Amino acid sequence: MAILRPVLFEFADDTFLGTVREVDTRKVSIHVKTDSDLRKAKVGQLVCLKVTSAVKGWLVGLIDKVIKFVSVSESDHNEKIEVSESVPKPDNKDLASKFECANENVINTVRLTLLGSIRWNAEEKAWRFSRSIVHVPDIEAECHVLVNKHLESFMNLLTTANNTEQSLALGKYTIDESATAYLDGNKFFQRHAALLGSTGSGKSWTVASIMEKAAKLPTSNLIVFDIHGEYRNLSYARHLRIPGPEELGKTSKKSPHLPAFLQEAQLLYLPYWLLNAEEMQAMFIDRSEFSAHNQVMAFQDAVIEEKKAVLENLKKLQVLNAFTLDSPIPFSISNVIDKLNDLNEEIEQGARGLKQGKFYGQFSRLLTRLRSKLSDKRYGFLFNAPESEHDYDAMARMVCKLMDYKSENAQIKVIDFSEVPSDILPVIVGLVARIVYQIQFWTNYENRRPLALVCDEAHLYLPKKEGLNPVEQRSVEAFEKIAKEGRKYGVALLIVSQRPSDVSTTVLSQCNNVIALRLTNSDDQTTVKKLMPESLESLLEVLPVMDIGEALVVGDSVLLPSRIRITQPEEKPLSATIDFWSEWLKDAAEPDFTRSVENMRKQGRG
Ligand SMILES: Nc1ncnc2c1ncn2[C@@H]1O[C@H](COP(=O)(O)OP(=O)(O)OP(=O)(O)O)[C@@H](O)[C@H]1O
Ligand SMILES: [Mg+2]
Repeated sequence: MAILRPVLFEFADDTFLGTVREVDTRKVSIHVKTDSDLRKAKVGQLVCLKVTSAVKGWLVGLIDKVIKFVSVSESDHNEKIEVSESVPKPDNKDLASKFECANENVINTVRLTLLGSIRWNAEEKAWRFSRSIVHVPDIEAECHVLVNKHLESFMNLLTTANNTEQSLALGKYTIDESATAYLDGNKFFQRHAALLGSTGSGKSWTVASIMEKAAKLPTSNLIVFDIHGEYRNLSYARHLRIPGPEELGKTSKKSPHLPAFLQEAQLLYLPYWLLNAEEMQAMFIDRSEFSAHNQVMAFQDAVIEEKKAVLENLKKLQVLNAFTLDSPIPFSISNVIDKLNDLNEEIEQGARGLKQGKFYGQFSRLLTRLRSKLSDKRYGFLFNAPESEHDYDAMARMVCKLMDYKSENAQIKVIDFSEVPSDILPVIVGLVARIVYQIQFWTNYENRRPLALVCDEAHLYLPKKEGLNPVEQRSVEAFEKIAKEGRKYGVALLIVSQRPSDVSTTVLSQCNNVIALRLTNSDDQTTVKKLMPESLESLLEVLPVMDIGEALVVGDSVLLPSRIRITQPEEKPLSATIDFWSEWLKDAAEPDFTRSVENMRKQGRG
């Protein structure tokens, strides 16, 4: 028995805008007969076009431009007034040649971009909106604006289609604040996402809002790179912290200013032997020195020898047969230094008495660099980890801290990098990302569980290619690999940045979903425009004029590219904007500057 299709829209004259006059694949011009009809059209509004061919349904479009023609004299000379938010008014001569409209007095035009179509889905027995456009509109087809109950029905259609088990409620649609905007949680993470917006536009809050929802899923797995310690107060997350100089030797960090249940963050040491050969070189070798090549060779030989000795000692025969310079095997860096020192000071017996060894004096600078890094307290998390962090099984324990998701509060892991010196921040963040990716890679297919890396302030460690120093290069390479291949192994990236124009293009261009908050800088706007399909360029004109917490969401995780007001997270990150004037109004005690100076000297606020 045939199912009767429920009527989705019953349009009347009050919503009628005009008829199709020109069709150019996704771009359509509507001929609007009267001024009162034209007044119904607003840039950014949704419209519906009736499809009258065999497959009945509607096409949905978005108004890009509203143009009104006014005949200023009895003659054929027409003046055109444009009501457009984006395109400057061209001069009259141009227009007369462009639009052959000389013999009509009034030709009001509305231009729109088609976004998708609504068709009857026989299987699901319901109307469904999809992004595909199978039929272009017929000439003379009727166009109606989607307002009031029609807009509601359409939003309902979107909401019910999106409100499934996989959906992630991000906020409310700006055009209809009663309709919840859902993202497809699968698609959002499957092919990476970018969250971009000027400083203070609401990125960290959006991240918190997404994390809060993810934390409610029983086995979600998100690792957040928190560069400024903004997320350290979230109660649903596990807090890991790269230890600062004051915390060395401890295993957890007490934060007296936080509530009791949050006081302890586990310290995450990253012992130097986790670094691969290239990361070590980026840290220690100065490529501009003439002996750099010899330094690399000698350093690598010494490391290999040390790793080999450890494996032999532990009788790890299988690993011994396959390990490389890059394998994360604990070794003693001081033995390596001793070896290099011996080579640097070597005096050997020559034919005519004693002579300087082959590498005599070549490693002096390398040794100085190594020793100064080793004794620098800021690098303590690499070189001064407690003894227990250096045993063979330490890495497995560390990976467990980073990647498990079953124990309490483990779904969301916030790693606080605020104590990492900025000169090596890229290598260290890249190192954590690389370890996570490689562990995921080496986990059996059946046991592999998807996880997402949230990269806040990505411009700090994922800069654009040109002129990168070796330290940045390593980080960018680690992330580029994940951006390109992560999808297959279930590693997703959520790139968050206030300077998209400074972020690696390779990484950004792999992001299939973009949440663009307010963006005022024109370079950044251009970068975001490049990430979006061309047909949606007119939508992007709103980037600089959006409110805080309002975003343009585009990508395969949303049915309709839309402006969404993002729901505030229940637990706010510690990124609150400081109210200067109000603060200055208050009477307040002077900070203890002596103490600040002391903190600066001892590199810690404790
Ligand atoms: N969804 C929202 N609704 C209402 N207000 C918001 C929303 N998101 C953010 N805000 C306001 O904006 C302020 C800044 O937000 P947030 O810290 O998320 O900015 P940001 O984009 O991360 O900035 P930065 O790039 O400097 O880190 C918040 O303190 C809050 O007052
Ligand atoms: Mg932020």
